[in-house]
Amino acid sequence: MRKNIVAGNWKMNKTFEEADTLISDIMDLLEKNELDRNTLMILCPPFPYIEMCTDYSNDSYFMVGAQNVADQERGAYTGEVSAEMLQSLETSYCIVGHSERRQYYGETDQTVARKVDLLLQHDIRPIVCCGEVLDEREAGKQFDVVKRQITDGLFHLTPEQFGQIVIAYEPVWAIGTGKTATPQQAQEIHAFIRNLIAEKYGKQVADETSILYGGSCKPSNAKELFANPDVDGGLIGGASLQAKDFVDIALAF
Ligand code: PGA
Repeated sequence: MRKNIVAGNWKMNKTFEEADTLISDIMDLLEKNELDRNTLMILCPPFPYIEMCTDYSNDSYFMVGAQNVADQERGAYTGEVSAEMLQSLETSYCIVGHSERRQYYGETDQTVARKVDLLLQHDIRPIVCCGEVLDEREAGKQFDVVKRQITDGLFHLTPEQFGQIVIAYEPVWAIGTGKTATPQQAQEIHAFIRNLIAEKYGKQVADETSILYGGSCKPSNAKELFANPDVDGGLIGGASLQAKDFVDIALAF
């Protein structure tokens, strides 16, 4: 059975000390409130805090993910962080193709495909983001956009490789805006994505793929969103910076 996943994307927030406090607060709360056994929590801190997170996660309260990875194996790429480095820090997951990377750093579906390949070579599970911008939603193009992102970014994989993928549907108009997709809007696209996967890889692979929702998910709307049959959790930005909010979201299953 596929996992329910709640992943916290801290983005470019928190000093080292603040990060340390956030993690220990999350762990305190998890000691008092046990997560459902099928729920997996993932923390995706900025690169400099990955080791601190993996040290804490030895207690197995959560897994650790990165927010990005280089699209080259190694060498003269100043400022980049490779999949091999992440693997050597025991990073289990990595976000790829977040809309902020696509918008501000020019990432394309082809970049996403290369990053996914490198991560899989290093036993790191990609959390691959897709989602339309407001203009595309208003023009009714959300299905075409998501189909292109998934097809061009992921459908070169073998079924076995695809089994390592987590998808995050994040309508760009809902990210950091306080505007959440309705549960119906989320379910509609999630079902569409699962169907695309089933057409390409078969029903079993599709049924085993966790598809997360992202975009202003918070404790007050998580239950309603996660109650949908094809919504298997969330990729949480703003609300993952507060221990209580984040743990409350993870407890919404
Ligand atoms: P948000 O961000 O929860 O702050 O809207 C979600 C994301 O960008 O992953």
